[in-house]
Amino acid sequence: MYKGVSVSLFNLVLSFSDALDLASPELAQHQIRTAYIAMELAKEAGMNKDDIENLVVAALVHDIGALTPEEKINLHQADTVETEAHCVLGEHLLQNVPVFIPAAKIVRLHHHKWLDWAPSVEMPLTAQAQILSLADIVERSINRSKYILHQINTIINMVTPLADKEIQSGLIDNLKDLSKREDFWLTIVSPRLYSLLMHEASSRGIVLDMADLRDVSEVFRNLIDFRSRFTATHSAGVSTSGALIARYFGLTLYEIQLMEITGNLHDLGKLIVPNSILEKQDKLTAEEFSVMKQHSYFTYVVLSTVRGLEEIAESAAFHHEKLDGSGYPFHLTYRKLNMLSRILGVADIFTALLEDRPYRAGMQMTEAMGIIKDMAEKGALDMKVVNVLEENLDDIADETKRRQAYVREYYEKVFRPA
Ligand SMILES: [Fe+2]
Ligand SMILES: [Fe+2]
Ligand SMILES: [Fe+2]
Repeated sequence: MYKGVSVSLFNLVLSFSDALDLASPELAQHQIRTAYIAMELAKEAGMNKDDIENLVVAALVHDIGALTPEEKINLHQADTVETEAHCVLGEHLLQNVPVFIPAAKIVRLHHHKWLDWAPSVEMPLTAQAQILSLADIVERSINRSKYILHQINTIINMVTPLADKEIQSGLIDNLKDLSKREDFWLTIVSPRLYSLLMHEASSRGIVLDMADLRDVSEVFRNLIDFRSRFTATHSAGVSTSGALIARYFGLTLYEIQLMEITGNLHDLGKLIVPNSILEKQDKLTAEEFSVMKQHSYFTYVVLSTVRGLEEIAESAAFHHEKLDGSGYPFHLTYRKLNMLSRILGVADIFTALLEDRPYRAGMQMTEAMGIIKDMAEKGALDMKVVNVLEENLDDIADETKRRQAYVREYYEKVFRPA
C-alpha cells in the first residue's frame, strides 16, 4: 500500500504562524491574536463560515511578507511606516499554493484604507480585508505590560476616530459591541489561545496530501531563505540534493518525497534569528553562535506540533546532529539518527559549502567533497551516504544547480528588484 501524509491545513498554518511571531517577545502571538479578534469581529458582522475560515487563515499569516524580524518589529511599532511592500510580497508568497489563494488576496489588502476602496471591489473580500485591518490595529494597540481589562476604553477611544476613514464605521460599531464582553478581551491574552483557535475556527477541516504539503513547504522555504541573498536558494539546494541522494540510495518514493519537503523546512527555526547575525560579515562570536544554534530546535518545536508531520519534524530538526554525538541541539548519536536525517545532514553541508557566505566565497567541488569525506572518516557523517553522493556527484550537482538557478531567478525578479 502506498504511504502518504495527511495534515490539517489549519493545524499547520496555526503552528507556522506561531513560528513567524517567535521573532521577538513583543511580537509573540501577534498573528494568532489578530486572527482571534478578526474571527470574533466577523461573527459579529454575520459573515458565513467559509469566509470566516479564509479570513482566519489570512490573519494567521498576514505579515508573512515582512521577511526579517527587524521589519516585523518596525511594522508592529510604528503607524507611519511604509506598509505596502509586505502586503505585495505576502500575496506573492501565498498565491503559489491553491489552498492559500483566498488568503493571498486578503493579505494583499490588509492595510488598505476604507477611503481608498473602489466601490467595484468584490464582496466578501472588502469585509475580510477591513476586518483584518481593524483586528491588526486593535492587537497592536494592546499594552502587553498592563492588565487587559484596564485598557478597553483607551483602545476604543483610539479606534473610534478611524471610522469611515481607515475602517468602515459598521465594523467599529461591531467592535464596540464586542468590547462589552470581558471574555473577548481575556481570550485575546489567554495563553490557551492556540488550542482554542485549533478547536473553533476550522469548520471545513481541509486536509493536505503530499503534493499540497510540498507546495506549502515551498512557500515557507522561500520565506526562510529569501531573507538574505546568501541563503536565497539554500533550502532549495538541500531539498533537491537530499531527494536525489535518497533516490540513489534506493529509498522508497514516500521517503524521497518526505526528503524533499524536509529539505525545504529544515531551517524553519531560522525565522527567529535576526538578520544582523544571519548576514554578519565576520565569524560569529560564541554568543552569536549560541543564538544561531536555536534554529534547529525551533524547527522541531514548530513542526512537531503539527499532527502528521512527526517524521518530517524529526529528520528536519536533526540536521545539525552528528553520528558521533558532536552535533546540536539534542546531541544524538548514530543509534537515534535515521536514514533521512543522515542524508539531510550531508545534503545540508554539501549545499552550504558550495554557496557564498558573507564571510567567504563558495567552494570548488573538490574542496567541498574533501571536507565532507573527512567528516565521514572522523565519524561525524554517514560514510555510506557520502559514498552515494560521490558516486553520483555530477548528476546531483547539476540538478541541484539547475533547481537553485530557477529559484534564484524568482528571488531576483520579485523579492530583490535591482
Ligand atoms: Fe501588516
Ligand atoms: Fe500585523
Ligand atoms: Fe541549519
